[in-house]
Amino acid sequence: MKDQFSRKINYLRISVTDRCNLSCQYCKLYPFSFRDSSSILSYEEILRVVKISLTLGINKFRLTGGEPLIRKDLAKFVRKVNSLKGIEDLSLTTNGILLKKYAKSLKEAGLKRINLSLDTLKEDKFKLLCRKDALKDVLSGIKEALKIGFVPLKINLVVLRDFNLDEIDDFINFTKDFRVIVRFIELMPFNEELNWFKRQFVSVKELKEKLRRKYILTEVKDIYTAGPAKYYKIKDFGIIGFIAGVNECFCQDCNRLRLTSYGSLRPCLWNKNELNLKEMLRAYAGDQEIIQKIKDLVICKPKERKLTQSQVSMWEVGG
Ligand code: 5AD
Repeated sequence: MKDQFSRKINYLRISVTDRCNLSCQYCKLYPFSFRDSSSILSYEEILRVVKISLTLGINKFRLTGGEPLIRKDLAKFVRKVNSLKGIEDLSLTTNGILLKKYAKSLKEAGLKRINLSLDTLKEDKFKLLCRKDALKDVLSGIKEALKIGFVPLKINLVVLRDFNLDEIDDFINFTKDFRVIVRFIELMPFNEELNWFKRQFVSVKELKEKLRRKYILTEVKDIYTAGPAKYYKIKDFGIIGFIAGVNECFCQDCNRLRLTSYGSLRPCLWNKNELNLKEMLRAYAGDQEIIQKIKDLVICKPKERKLTQSQVSMWEVGG
């Protein structure tokens, strides 16, 4: 399936819940409220969307949230998705808290890859940033995932001036044995406290310059799946990636759609335009009708994102 700018759309990110067992400062407005469970798509409904997507040439899927692992029976759901014909990639984004418990069953169910979000290796900072004392759980989750064979494991870190800019070396150390790839992400301005975002923002450019003073970086191309990250080999260490989601625009290569936890399909994270699939699914719409609506939506996929503040909340649309 192509959009009007000839971009091939083959990737669907599915938010299976808006709930999370963390409430990180950069992600959520606080206090916040979750949707009630009847407004969240059931696994059967998501599965139908996946089946329809497959007929449209979408063959890469990622499960996100909220925190996907807090949804009951996620591994069973993974197994069902994975058993569909045509699935080329099935991955998960998680904060890792529950990975110790679920890594094995996820692997057995056919999950291929895991991206894990972790912004600090210091317990006090983790508690402050994520509003929960759970670093230990995340670290044992990482250990378990590696043991089970989710290698390489990608660790995503949102760079924050006052929280983790002083820990970059520790994260780079993580990459040494090539089992972990650390990706540094630019902070995106999601909630109302713009000053906080401005203060914490560190550009990839600044970070790269800082790293180049200490390490030798060589760009590696096309090693890992196509996407917004640029990867580098660090001499004497492993691979790191940078995602400059604010200062750079990757829209010309965008291949994705997002299914929100509340059952809407979004062509762009930064654009409110979305198709209410849940309504159609619950009104017993036929496949052809749904397919046509998805095609109409994809045609309208914006050429470029507009970084206007407060248009999205990652935990609702999918991190
Ligand atoms: N800026 C950048 N990335 C964010 N995420 C959530 N909120 C933000 C933000 N404001 C992404 C991070 C995190 C994942 C769960 O969602 O990659 O690791």
